[in-house]
Amino acid sequence: MITGKTSIVGIIGDPVEHSLSPPMHNAAFRQLQMDYTYVPFHVLKDNLSNAVEGAKALGIKGLNVTIPHKTEVIKYIDELDKAAELIGAVNTIKFYKNVSKGFNTDGIGAVKAIEEFISLKGKKIVIIGAGGAARAISFQLMLSGVKNLLISNRTLENACQLKADLLQNFRGEVSCQKLDEKLKDELKDTEVLINTTPVGMHPHEDQKPIVNKDMIHKDLLVNDIVYNPLKTGLLREAEKAGAMTISGVRMLIYQGVESFRIWTGIKPPLEVFEMALMRELGY
Ligand code: ATR
Repeated sequence: MITGKTSIVGIIGDPVEHSLSPPMHNAAFRQLQMDYTYVPFHVLKDNLSNAVEGAKALGIKGLNVTIPHKTEVIKYIDELDKAAELIGAVNTIKFYKNVSKGFNTDGIGAVKAIEEFISLKGKKIVIIGAGGAARAISFQLMLSGVKNLLISNRTLENACQLKADLLQNFRGEVSCQKLDEKLKDELKDTEVLINTTPVGMHPHEDQKPIVNKDMIHKDLLVNDIVYNPLKTGLLREAEKAGAMTISGVRMLIYQGVESFRIWTGIKPPLEVFEMALMRELGY
């Protein structure tokens, strides 16, 4: 029941009606008997500034920020966490004492999803893609101590721009490459492969980013950030090669876990997030 004491958190985006975050967070609030509720807010670009100021004025405790506002919203936030500043994008805002602080939990989500299985320290990692998701994940990987990273992208220029941005802030062996068959050679001594492109996402389940089973060795950990379908073409190829796979759902769960923790100080039960997500996705 919503009362005068209920704390409000939510998500702003355009569109926002298909967001999986409301059911995920509300399930955890119910399970933990916390007097919080999570509300989706459809916010158009021209209203972004008013929405953030309005949320602060209304005493909203926190917001997730999704497409297309993650970069633009920085203009309207008082303080930025280090990772959010480096990445240049915010997906979580915490409001406290009339101050708004921006965070980015997308990269942490991916890093934690992988670290469920292996430690990233000293590993060679290949990222496919060089967009917003690749940026969040690659900066967080470097923040987590990764020193050997290859960015492979359809447009070489975008991969090399991301490489340059990373090397402006971190020391390490970072390289850029055009996404083509050459990746096969690179993957031979790679330990983790992360697809950050939308290739293979519903309704294009038949597509996959270049990589097939013959390019994958059995000790490669393959992570796709696409979560619909759960088993993408890339993950199916990885399974055929006997490699370990991580679906995009794990990243989604962990980015939510971090946002929840930032707002409430409490770590939510992973399985509650997972069950809510699977239900929403129809599994
Ligand atoms: P996001 O913010 O979700 O990362 P984005 O910024 O639009 O999305 O980035 C999409 C990434 O997927 C880019 O790296 C894009 O490659 P380009 O830099 O060449 O545009 C990549 N991508 C999108 N569609 C692709 C496709 N069909 N094949 C290969 N790469 C693709």
